[in-house]
Amino acid sequence: MAGRVEGKVAFITGAARNQGRSHALRLAQEGADVIAVDVCAPVESIRMYPPATEEDLAETVRQVEALDRRIVATKADVRDPAALRAAVDDGVAQLGRLDIVLANAGVFEIQPSLELTDDAWQEMIDINLTGVWNTCRVALPHLIESGGGSIVITSSTAGLKGTPNTIHYTAAKHGVVGVMRTLANEFGKQSIRVNTVHPTGVDTVMIQNEKTWGLFTPDDPNPTREKFAELFETLHPLPVPYIDPVDISNAILFLVSDEARYVTGVTLPVDAGYTIR
Ligand SMILES: NC(=O)c1ccc[n+]([C@@H]2O[C@H](COP(=O)([O-])OP(=O)(O)OC[C@H]3O[C@@H](n4cnc5c(N)ncnc54)[C@H](O)[C@@H]3O)[C@@H](O)[C@H]2O)c1
Repeated sequence: MAGRVEGKVAFITGAARNQGRSHALRLAQEGADVIAVDVCAPVESIRMYPPATEEDLAETVRQVEALDRRIVATKADVRDPAALRAAVDDGVAQLGRLDIVLANAGVFEIQPSLELTDDAWQEMIDINLTGVWNTCRVALPHLIESGGGSIVITSSTAGLKGTPNTIHYTAAKHGVVGVMRTLANEFGKQSIRVNTVHPTGVDTVMIQNEKTWGLFTPDDPNPTREKFAELFETLHPLPVPYIDPVDISNAILFLVSDEARYVTGVTLPVDAGYTIR
């Protein structure tokens, strides 16, 4: 039986590990080839969890190839439009076309608003907002050339609700909703659909670190994974503390497949109900 994205090619940023890798594998399982990029290096203002590495990106390549799909992987920074353009152009030259774009790369940092430095604000906006636009702009000419396509931007529940102590992250994740709505209107006639997904906590290093464990309890001197999980679960109508990367991949797979051929301009929470609380 044909896969749900059989014969399509997907450009995925932040593909070295966790959600980005999971998206690459889920789409490959359903018949897509992949153009993967990741910075594979530390980001100056992000200190609370370890960066992805070139070995991580190589592991994504190995796992996609183990599914008998093709993958072109490049170390590139979403802040560098020339490097991104070279990566996607090279991928399309090798794989033949482009149909799907997943602007997934992002960073997270917790800082009380009044303690945030100008540099930390700017770096967050450069990666989580401008980096998303850079990803879309280098990919759009290829989608137009293909006669249409589907873009999914990974926002966050922080793209729908004001989340304390993350003003730069929250502003950027709201900002990508504006990018999505603009592109959905501007490129609809070219059969390009654009949507955002809004995950609650996903079980990755981005939240599984000591600083995030204390996000909701800033006065607790000893935050733990267990205490964080217990508190986070109370914020969800469904009985889970956080969800898995594949839960986001499955929502994205639906959005980029032909099953969602008339779904565009949507902000899709994948959040166990967090945003209705
Ligand atoms: N983990 C969560 O709880 C959660 C919740 C909501 C939204 N998100 C969003 O999901 C996305 C994926 O996060 P994750 O949980 O897999 O964390 P992660 O840190 O494992 O993945 C992010 C990836 O993006 C890459 N990246 C960072 N800056 C980059 C840059 N400048 N250029 C290219 N690549 C860069 C990283 O190297 C990393 O591989 C992010 O956009 C994040 O904001 C995460």
